[in-house]
Amino acid sequence: MAIITFPKAFLWGASTAAYQVEGGNSGSALWAWEGRKGWEPSGEAAGSWERFDEDLACLKSLGLNAYRFSVEWSRVQPSPDRFDDGALGRYVGWARRLQAEGIRPFVCLHHFSEPSWLLELHPEGWLGDSVPARFLRFAERAAGALKDDVADWVTFNEPMVFLVGAYGMGHFPPGRRLLVRPRALAEAGARMARTHNEAYRLLHRLRPECRAGFTQNVAALDPARPGDEEAVESWDRFMHRDFMDAARGRMDYLGINYYTRIFVNRSPFSPLPGRAVPGYAELQAGVGRLGYRLLGGRRGEGEPTDMGWEVHPEGLGRVVSALWREHGLPILILENGIADASGLRREAYIRDHLASLASAMRQGAEVRGYFHWSLVDNYEWGSYRPRFGLHSRDRRPCPGAEFYGRVARSGEFEVHG
Ligand code: FCB
Repeated sequence: MAIITFPKAFLWGASTAAYQVEGGNSGSALWAWEGRKGWEPSGEAAGSWERFDEDLACLKSLGLNAYRFSVEWSRVQPSPDRFDDGALGRYVGWARRLQAEGIRPFVCLHHFSEPSWLLELHPEGWLGDSVPARFLRFAERAAGALKDDVADWVTFNEPMVFLVGAYGMGHFPPGRRLLVRPRALAEAGARMARTHNEAYRLLHRLRPECRAGFTQNVAALDPARPGDEEAVESWDRFMHRDFMDAARGRMDYLGINYYTRIFVNRSPFSPLPGRAVPGYAELQAGVGRLGYRLLGGRRGEGEPTDMGWEVHPEGLGRVVSALWREHGLPILILENGIADASGLRREAYIRDHLASLASAMRQGAEVRGYFHWSLVDNYEWGSYRPRFGLHSRDRRPCPGAEFYGRVARSGEFEVHG
C-alpha cells in the first residue's frame, strides 16, 4: 500500500460548459442545428441557468476549490449590436459567490457554442477573416464585466476539436466537411491561435496579473504498427502542438483535456497530414468497421467507455511529461472523465488517472490542478445518453463522487501495489 500525495495548493475542480448545462440557449447556432441534425434536443439541459445554487452546493459537498464554467456568447450578445448586461451580471454573481466560498472561478470564453447571428452574418465562420474581431469584441465586454471577480481565463476550449467538428466533419455549425483539405483547417487553426493571442493581450490589459490560456484536447498517440511513427508525429503536430506553438509566449499555463489514447496508422488513402488515420471512435464510426479495417486502422484495447473511448490512464502522465518538457509551463488538467451510465467505473478511472498524473509530477512536471469533467450529467452535443457527471441532473451524487471528494479534501489517496 502506498499513499499518493498532492501539493497543498493543488486545485481540485470540476468543469462544465454553458451550452451543456444551462439550458434554453436558443440564441446559439446549435439550437436550430439540433433539429437539422436530428439530435436529441438540449432543452433545459441541467437547468444550471436557474439552478446555480444547486451547482454551488454540489461543488461544496465535494470540497472542491475550483470550478470551470463557460460564458455563453449568445446570451451575453444576443444580437450583433446589443449586449445583455443582465445576463453578464448573472455570471458576475456566480463568480462572486464562488469566490466567497473559496472556490476559484475559471471562465472559458468559447466552448463550441456561437451565436446564430454570427454565422448568418459570416457563413464562412473561422475560415474567413471577420469572426476574430467579433469574438474579441465579445471577449472584451465579458471580461470587462468579470475582471474584478475572475483571474483565471480559458479563451478557447479544444480549438482543434471545434474546428475539425465544425469545418472538417460537419458535426457542428456551420457544418462544413473539409477534412479532405486539412490545409484549410490548419489555416483556420492559425487564425484562431492569433485570436487567442489577441485575447491574451486583452485579458492582461484588463487585469495585468490574471492568468490566461486555452485548453487543448490531447490524446495519447501510439503507432498502430512499427513504421507508423511518422504518421503519429504528423497528427500530433496538426491536432495538438501547432496551435500551442503558435501561442508561445501567450499562455500563462498549458491547459490539457485528456480522455483517451488512440492508435494512428499511415494509409495511402488518407487525405490527412502524414497520410495519418487517427483512430478516434468517432472516425471509426464514420467510416464503419469495414472501412476502418480497409484503412488499416487499429482499435483501442480493453473495455471502451459509453463514448467508445479506450480507458488509458498511463497516457495522461505521458502527455503531461512530454508537454512539460516541450513548454516548461505550469500545467492544468482542465477536463478528464468517463461516460459511464452505471457509474461503477468512475472511481477507478479517477484514481488511475490521478496516479498517472502524480507520477509525471514526481518526474518534474509542474501540474497545478485537476478538473473533473463533469460536475453534473449534461448535454453531450446531441445526446443525453453519455453520463459524465459526478452528479445526476437532479443533483444526486453518482458513484465516484464520494471518492473524488475525499481526495479533494485530503489531497491524497491510497494505491495498492
Ligand atoms: C470534450 C468537450 C466537453 C465534453 C467532453 C466529454 O471534448 O470539451 O464539452 O463534451 O469532451
